Amino acid sequence: MKKLIIANWKMQLGYRASLDLARLYTKQLAGLKNEIVLCPDYLSLPAVSAILKKSGLLLGAQDSAASARGAYTGEVSPADLKALGVKYVILGHSERREHLHENSAIINAKIKAALAAGLTPVLCVGEKIAERESGEARPYLAEELRHALKGVKIKRASDLVIAYEPVWAISTNKDAKPIDAISASDMLGFIQSKAANLLEKKPRVLYGGSVFPGNAADFSAQPVIGGFLVGGASLKLTDFKIICS
Ligand code: PGA
Repeated sequence: MKKLIIANWKMQLGYRASLDLARLYTKQLAGLKNEIVLCPDYLSLPAVSAILKKSGLLLGAQDSAASARGAYTGEVSPADLKALGVKYVILGHSERREHLHENSAIINAKIKAALAAGLTPVLCVGEKIAERESGEARPYLAEELRHALKGVKIKRASDLVIAYEPVWAISTNKDAKPIDAISASDMLGFIQSKAANLLEKKPRVLYGGSVFPGNAADFSAQPVIGGFLVGGASLKLTDFKIICS
């Protein structure tokens, strides 16, 4: 089955570098059987959208507003992202939860606004090292899902994606280390069944956090892992191509 592989470029590249990398990827990644999504920063989205046209690669955004329109200085409407050709939107990433203090209520509203605009939310959940070490990871994840998905209705299972990103495994965090494929598979099975209860549909679940060429095949071999959300390794053609293959 096709995997969904989402490149989260964060704010790591400037405008020109984003366009150059998008152009390179349209040449080098076209024709791979997996579904590949590039998420550049907002500023680069219109130009990257034009570059990706007819390439087979899809466009994603790293965030979107909790409303379609209104007096929200600095925000970007999910309706405008949709009009630009965006298909997926990452919501609730741990970096936004931590640095921008996004809470469950905001994330819940963003999911609803994204769905209303016809985007596919990629909801990120993941425990921090404290919950991991105290054995509280599962109840913590169950609560994150319950709050984020409160009142969320989807028509098809494919309308929403969940990415499990243990915060301690994200490569930019100090002492980050990847989770092993079996543990990731266990956690994703747990997340998928909790989400299925809440949504009454079984969404696709992705793994994210230090996915690199050396471990991608082990994760891919786990049937529950429907793909990856990739940060650092999505910035290098050689690494990302291996992960996407
Ligand atoms: P990483 O980032 O692949 O660099 O660990 C993943 C993410 O933050 O989405």
